[in-house]
Amino acid sequence: MYKVIYDTDPGVDDAMALLFLHLHPDIDLIGVTTVFGNASIETTTRNALFLKREWGIAAPVAKGAGETIDPSRPHAGWPTFIHGEDGLGNIGVPETIDLPVDRRPAYRFIIDTVRAHPGEVTLIAVGRMTNLALALRESPEIAGLVREVIVMGGAFDVPGNVTPAAEANIHGDPEAADIVFTAPWKVTIVGLDVTTKTVMTGGFLAEMAVAGGKDVQLLADLSQFYIDFYKQRVGDGMVIHDSCACVYLVAPELFETRSGSVRVVCGGLADGQTIQKPDGRHFGPSAWDDLPSQMVCTVIQPEKVLQVIRTAL
Ligand code: BDR
Ligand code: CA
Repeated sequence: MYKVIYDTDPGVDDAMALLFLHLHPDIDLIGVTTVFGNASIETTTRNALFLKREWGIAAPVAKGAGETIDPSRPHAGWPTFIHGEDGLGNIGVPETIDLPVDRRPAYRFIIDTVRAHPGEVTLIAVGRMTNLALALRESPEIAGLVREVIVMGGAFDVPGNVTPAAEANIHGDPEAADIVFTAPWKVTIVGLDVTTKTVMTGGFLAEMAVAGGKDVQLLADLSQFYIDFYKQRVGDGMVIHDSCACVYLVAPELFETRSGSVRVVCGGLADGQTIQKPDGRHFGPSAWDDLPSQMVCTVIQPEKVLQVIRTAL
């Protein structure tokens, strides 16, 4: 069983990935930590509690960061045109959910849980990397205790989706992402290079809802707004970014990767750009030297990834 802490900003595609983690037989979801991004921290935490209640998820929810690790960064606003005003496709999530959050902030929950299960926990981070960076800053030794970090974020050989240079999860807190990518732990990055190839059609989702019952029907309902957003970009269907990172955990053979140190541009025209120095390529001295080699996904088998999701849901 893979023990997973899911760090998320629900978010429509975050919700699908959460249901996948909850239902997959080889995954033991031991914590959900929230972060700002697709909506404010109050909204993403409320949404995590809502989904926990609706889907009967046992894992605790710990509330995380509501702003960038460098508080002097200007506030970027919320992408309500992608995920809706309520972050879940405007389905009318209640203002408050009568479930408690964990008493610890997300970064502390991560530290405690990783220490309790040395070498066993996989962190799957599909929002801003702020909670992970805060955890590393507080307790750097956790880097040696985590099994693997899997990140949805970045754009390496393709354009970004917020600017031509940067993808949303990284652009939303570049300093935090740079801390995470340069720490001495194993990071696998599932970025736009592969996620944008993975489109789930409305028909595919509707069929899953028929077979999967009311939990998948809720997912289909809250996805409609997001599907409408993607209509002009991919035609029929939606890009299921965050689920790709979760599928990587259980089916890494469906991806090809490239290894090398990764840095994030912090500031200026290319703010939030992710750049990898491929192992074996030689340059002059640079800011990529003497850093851990991380894995960047370069190729995906989208149809097979969709089947892994269908089987779990
Ligand atoms: C990422 O940004 C968010 O909108 C999605 O949930 C995903 O994590 C894609 O760039
Ligand atoms: Ca997300």
